[in-house]
Amino acid sequence: MVAAELGYTRTARILHWLTAVLVIAAIPAGIAMVNVGAGPLQNVLFDFHRSLGVTLIPVILLRLVWRLTHKPPPLPGDIPPLQAYAAHAVHIAFYALLIVQPLIGWLGTSAFRAPIDVWWLFELPPIWPEDRAFSDQVFEVHEFVGYLIALLLCAHIGAALMHHFVRRDGVLQRMWAW
Ligand code: HEM
Ligand code: HEM
Repeated sequence: MVAAELGYTRTARILHWLTAVLVIAAIPAGIAMVNVGAGPLQNVLFDFHRSLGVTLIPVILLRLVWRLTHKPPPLPGDIPPLQAYAAHAVHIAFYALLIVQPLIGWLGTSAFRAPIDVWWLFELPPIWPEDRAFSDQVFEVHEFVGYLIALLLCAHIGAALMHHFVRRDGVLQRMWAW
């Protein structure tokens, strides 16, 4: 049986692509907003970036619960063990970093005392007392983790494309096919 026949559940796929859209939008929005200079565009980008990140919190938690209660289909048997191990490690790192990163953003923004306006609908309460020096340190970590996620994402997308175009083993379809 080819791997594509052993697909992920529909819920797992929806949650995967929802996560992908949120993260793939949050990274360039984050980079743009710190480089664009003060003004109305920067304010919109801040709100947009924070809203994407906050939306990710329930999505990734739901995804983690789903993942822990639904075993994913096994990888094709001819994948070298080291490669399977690397894929697994990247997946675990994604779950961990995507839970931690929005919380770091929330923490740093609380310590800065900027409002967290979620999709212009409601405000998230601060979770830390005002402390600008601490906020600066927290955002050093946020920046590092942001780029680490981007790096893992490049490896992950590269692997997915390699499966699809080089190995042609159906691994992309089992996450993609509807
Ligand atoms: C930020 C964006 C993304 C994140 C955080 C992410 C995260 C993940 C995680 C955690 C898994 C493991 C699923 C599980 O077993 O629980 C996974 C699987 C997968 N992802 Fe992504 N992904 C992203 C974007 C993409 C993109 C853009 C592609 C395609 C180009 C892709 C293709 C796949 C495929 C094919 C699988 C299934 C791998 C397998 O069957 O073992 N992902 N992804
Ligand atoms: C997984 C979700 C998130 C990702 C991947 C992410 C990623 C990033 C990236 C790449 C940057 C640019 C770093 C730089 O070049 O200096 C950034 C900056 C920033 N992020 Fe996030 N972020 C996420 C969630 C959040 C959340 C939830 C908040 C707030 C509630 C937030 C608040 C900020 C702020 C305020 C900055 C600017 C920091 C500064 O002024 O140096 N982020 N983020």
